[in-house]
Amino acid sequence: MARGQILLTGVAFAVIMVFDVVYGLPESSDTMKRTSDWGESKRNGPDEEDLPLTVPALDSHQSIVSVTTSVWEWMGKAFVLAFVVYILYRLSKEVFQECVAKRMGLGVVWKPSPDNWAIITGATDGIGLSYAHNLAEMGYSLLIISRNDEKLQRVRSDLLSANRACAEVKTLCVDFTRPDIYERIRETLATLTNIDVLVNNVGMSYKRYEYFHMIDDLEPFIDQIVNCNVLAVTRMLAICLPRMVTARRGIVINVSSITADCPVPLLAVYSATKAYVDYLSRALEIEYRDTPGLTIQSAVFGFVATKMSSLKPSFVCPTADESVRAMLATVGIKARTHGHYAHRLQITYLEIISSVLGVTRGRPMVWSQWSYNWLAKFRSRYYEKRGLKDPWLTDNQWLTV
Ligand SMILES: NC(=O)c1ccc[n+]([C@@H]2O[C@H](COP(=O)([O-])OP(=O)(O)OC[C@H]3O[C@@H](n4cnc5c(N)ncnc54)[C@H](OP(=O)(O)O)[C@@H]3O)[C@@H](O)[C@H]2O)c1
Repeated sequence: MARGQILLTGVAFAVIMVFDVVYGLPESSDTMKRTSDWGESKRNGPDEEDLPLTVPALDSHQSIVSVTTSVWEWMGKAFVLAFVVYILYRLSKEVFQECVAKRMGLGVVWKPSPDNWAIITGATDGIGLSYAHNLAEMGYSLLIISRNDEKLQRVRSDLLSANRACAEVKTLCVDFTRPDIYERIRETLATLTNIDVLVNNVGMSYKRYEYFHMIDDLEPFIDQIVNCNVLAVTRMLAICLPRMVTARRGIVINVSSITADCPVPLLAVYSATKAYVDYLSRALEIEYRDTPGLTIQSAVFGFVATKMSSLKPSFVCPTADESVRAMLATVGIKARTHGHYAHRLQITYLEIISSVLGVTRGRPMVWSQWSYNWLAKFRSRYYEKRGLKDPWLTDNQWLTV
């Protein structure tokens, strides 16, 4: 049975128990009456022989009610207990992973040195840039890959001046929306002594939330997003992983998204590509779990304040640096995580609420429907702000009737 169903059943049984206690089902009141009758007769000094006779024999209806009620009570208690144990388990796991595991040295052992290289795709902005700064601060040499050479050179000198421990930063200018770049990448990577870390970060999203057939330049866009979000991760792994396996050493961080947790309408292709990244990472993590020295993580970020999201930092939307620092602290401890506590709280809230509501329609569907309702409002605002007629409503007149 799914966790959601267990939770709901637990809640249902708890409610039944409360009703039983407050209003008293027939079994309870009968029992109380019998008990008080017996107590009364005991105070009045009944004959020893009278005692068994003061408890009236149950008729078959009463005994069925009695047995049913006690089974329900028992199950209710069991489910409430299971719910409490589940919450305690989740909390203690969080506390262990957050506070204890790192201090016990259970996380990954980073091995920064001038000869050990960290490769970061999409490293000139947002999450990728933050990974670059953090790994440079540790003392890794970096290969940063993005599509704008001017920006790459600027970021290179920033990284070197801000992080004294970082011996070298190489740059490679390629556009990940193109499928013909991997020979160049392979040649550049062949010049690196040891590939110790690969951060598969590069990704692109929609320009605006949109229905699939209304995406601007639909077919070229599909090629671009699939190349950038799916092909890039897979081909970078194909180049780096064999070397890591041979070296018995390597850390792979694949950047996925909370949109991989359920299908997200109006971001359908993006959400599907991020689910691909998540599934690939999780499957590979199991394939290579027993390979010594190899760590693979699916880094499932929630909303982060970056150029891509166009969101401002807030409690639910941390900065790239806050998110990446939290994520880095989990490498080697969690094979798949949402990283920052704000993202973990969001996902736990969504899991619990949609588990309870999603019993009949399925949890992911409730979640997807919420996302759709929410994003549809943002989408409408886009058209309103520009004084444009929403083509979705124009094409589907019946929706406005
Ligand atoms: N922001 C969020 O809320 C969020 C949430 C979950 C997951 N993520 C994921 O996190 C990753 C990074 O997102 P972000 O928010 O940090 O994005 P961002 O701020 O827009 O940065 C994207 C980086 O990738 C580079 N890039 C983009 N397209 C490229 C291409 N075709 N070829 C080469 N480089 C390219 C950009 O280079 P230029 O600067 O030169 O364009 C930039 O360095 C993505 O995989 C995204 O799906 C983001």
